[in-house]
Amino acid sequence: MSPRKASKTGSRLAREQRDLLLASAKNALHHAYAPYSGFHVGAAVLTEKGETYTGCNVENASYGLTNCAERTAICNAVAAEGACMRLRAVAVWSRPERPCAPCGACRQVILEFGPEAMVFYQDRKGVAETQAQDLLPAGFRL
Ligand code: THU
Repeated sequence: MSPRKASKTGSRLAREQRDLLLASAKNALHHAYAPYSGFHVGAAVLTEKGETYTGCNVENASYGLTNCAERTAICNAVAAEGACMRLRAVAVWSRPERPCAPCGACRQVILEFGPEAMVFYQDRKGVAETQAQDLLPAGFRL
């Protein structure tokens, strides 16, 4: 699992920090509620305060109400730290293991709290590493 190039000015995490965050995401996927897709996702966010919060996907019979792992983790972080919460990094992992880049909705929510945050996720070559604002160029801002 070798990290690929970070982009622009995003502050890079030490390899150990990145691996710890990915391990937290992998642990979190065991809590997923995914009876409809069978696709279990875990996410972990590292905040600027240095705290880690996790989340998993929570599906619903009405499908559209499903909450992704990344947004669950971010909501947990805001609930714990309040409105000043800012993201330093986000990690995502899935089971079955397959490429799992954050969906568009999650990219928009990550952008809200950390345009310069590093985002780690599975791709075909291993772990991809991309800055949030590069994952969603021209994201919506008020
Ligand atoms: N899912 C996530 O948790 N994060 C993403 O970024 C993409 C998709 C979940 C939602 C749903 O429960 C399952 O993956 C299949 O789409």
